[in-house]
Amino acid sequence: MITYGNISKSYDNGLSFAVNDVSFEVRKGEILVLLGSSGCGKTTLLKLTNRLIEPSSGTIEIDGKNILKENKISLRRKIGYVFQGIGLFPHMSVEDNAAIIPRLLGWPRQKRMQRAHELLEMVGLDPSIYAKRNPEDLSGGQQQRIGVARALAAAPEYLLMDEPFGALDALTRDTLQQELLSLRDKLDVTIVFVTHDIFEALTLGDRIAVLNKSCIEQIGTKEEIAGSPETDFVRDLFARPALQLKAFREML
Ligand SMILES: Nc1ncnc2c1ncn2[C@@H]1O[C@H](COP(=O)(O)OP(=O)(O)OP(=O)(O)O)[C@@H](O)[C@H]1O
Ligand SMILES: [Mg+2]
Repeated sequence: MITYGNISKSYDNGLSFAVNDVSFEVRKGEILVLLGSSGCGKTTLLKLTNRLIEPSSGTIEIDGKNILKENKISLRRKIGYVFQGIGLFPHMSVEDNAAIIPRLLGWPRQKRMQRAHELLEMVGLDPSIYAKRNPEDLSGGQQQRIGVARALAAAPEYLLMDEPFGALDALTRDTLQQELLSLRDKLDVTIVFVTHDIFEALTLGDRIAVLNKSCIEQIGTKEEIAGSPETDFVRDLFARPALQLKAFREML
């Protein structure tokens, strides 16, 4: 479980807040979606979680332990991170990209490669075809899969995913979303998934936290949020005609 307690991150000597007094928890085994528009603080929350940045105030606990008191390396070993914009190393092969964390952890080459190939299979890429290629020789959707494989390499208990399926066509995104749901069932991993896409949030989230201007407006299941919105912002978000059309189509 991840517990965020009154977490703030300010810049400009406290004049602006990327995250402002946010408290919530991520329950073991769930997919918690952080949903919000550009600049509302989603990436900041993920970076705070694995200590890429440190909070201005507040605490984050993972399984009851304050992350600031933990060794950064062992903290990151249990947290996989899929970065916004993928960030694969262009001059390294697909298998080396997938095995980057095991390499940092000092695994011998053969064990690393075995794990890399296992992961490529897991995300639907045949290693005999893709392992030796460079990332630029893959499609956007295939590169996104490598990003997911890389994050899973050291069998993390937690997975932070920052708009991992952004910039993909709708069909590929649908496929990857379904694959993520089945991976989650197989892997027993707790996921914090960032998106600005409300449909993606509804498809993937066991619960959704709606963010707006560095604060959480509401957190709950989609039924709770759509059924009883607590703020005008949430009400407007879920009252959009396109959403009602989707709900209507699903009823047919
Ligand atoms: N190093 C920094 N210095 C100053 N302001 C920053 C810094 N990093 C982030 N911010 C600001 O904090 C706010 C939140 O940024 P963040 O990257 O968390 O947004 P986001 O929700 O991930 O947006 P997007 O959907 O565009 O990725 C933004 O207004 C951003 O400009
Ligand atoms: Mg972001």
